[in-house]
Amino acid sequence: MVTRKRQTSVNLPQGAMMRAMVQRGYGAASVLTLEQIPRPAPAPHQVLVQVRSAGLDRGAWHIMTGKPYLLRLVFGLRTPRQPVSGQELAGTVVDVGTGVRGFRIGDEVFGIGAGAFAEYAVAREDKLAHKPPGVSSESASIVPVSAVTALQALREMGRVKAGQSVLVIGASGGVGSYAVQLAKHFGAKTTGVCSTQKLDFVRSLGADQVVDYTTEDYSHAGRNYDLILDIGGNSSLHRLRGALRSKGTAVIIGGEGAGDWIGIGRQLRAVLMSPFISQNLRMFVAKERSADLELLGGLVEAGVITPQLGGTYPLDQTPQAMRRLEEGAVSGKLAVRV
Ligand SMILES: NC(=O)c1ccc[n+]([C@@H]2O[C@H](COP(=O)([O-])OP(=O)(O)OC[C@H]3O[C@@H](n4cnc5c(N)ncnc54)[C@H](OP(=O)(O)O)[C@@H]3O)[C@@H](O)[C@H]2O)c1
Repeated sequence: MVTRKRQTSVNLPQGAMMRAMVQRGYGAASVLTLEQIPRPAPAPHQVLVQVRSAGLDRGAWHIMTGKPYLLRLVFGLRTPRQPVSGQELAGTVVDVGTGVRGFRIGDEVFGIGAGAFAEYAVAREDKLAHKPPGVSSESASIVPVSAVTALQALREMGRVKAGQSVLVIGASGGVGSYAVQLAKHFGAKTTGVCSTQKLDFVRSLGADQVVDYTTEDYSHAGRNYDLILDIGGNSSLHRLRGALRSKGTAVIIGGEGAGDWIGIGRQLRAVLMSPFISQNLRMFVAKERSADLELLGGLVEAGVITPQLGGTYPLDQTPQAMRRLEEGAVSGKLAVRV
């Protein structure tokens, strides 16, 4: 019997440098600068990925600005502990740690890593999945954080069922564009809330109805929804409850404009209120899991969901991409091509 020896390292020169978008402090997009820095090496349960494309999500924007300030307890008080930002990536495995079992050198992967806005980034194997061959690197790189969030919010927190009516507030963005498609996939009747210029985009994702938040209040139509995914707009709990059926569930995922300090006051109030009312108000933080990434990769390959690429930027134009995200000008998500 011929046994194939497992390749655990490739001939990468030691101490090699790489191009990376580095952030030496918190602030506006101008804190991101292109530098040559040492290429990282994988720890025992990590792989080193040669990045083809990195996804730009709101999380990367929060780490860039260091807001809300509460985040700095995790990411570093004065400067980010991880100087290269970006979490979502797609690329090729070029080195594996000694404890890695699921990936080999040469594997095409996508998932969540550390410092994705760079030529190379390390990622834990339990936050990666194999990239389906028919899916482009750009598309795969905009899946990880946003689609996993939408999937878990619908399936685990919202326990969505076929035939239910689901309201997605913030349907045109990173998380929302997946939430609308996945809610349809689970057989729900879906209403998407977004701004005027993105109504057609949200319809194209499969929403049965759309609400323009600049001209209409989604809660004025009464208690219509079994499940609300609250992703954008920072609605008051009173307003969410006004749109939710008496036994309905609201999953609060995020929303900008909740203040610079804590940012999750509304979520905490929801959790405190929920035991005393018939409706179920839940706060939610996504778990980064390779099983969910594998599942989502399969759904993308099968054409059940389509990552909505709102544009691609070369690595040295990451600040421009951040500004576009900040302006609210993106439908779906942006990718950084490395
Ligand atoms: N809990 C978690 O684990 C988790 C995971 C990922 C993200 N998040 C959070 O979720 C939020 C959204 O992330 P994202 O990546 O989807 O951001 P995004 O791509 O910037 O999308 C934001 C969405 O909010 C909508 N929106 C803005 N103002 C609104 C308003 N007044 N009323 C209703 N909708 C409004 C936008 O619509 P228009 O573009 O049409 O204006 C857009 O659809 C962020 O706060 C992020 O930090 C949380």
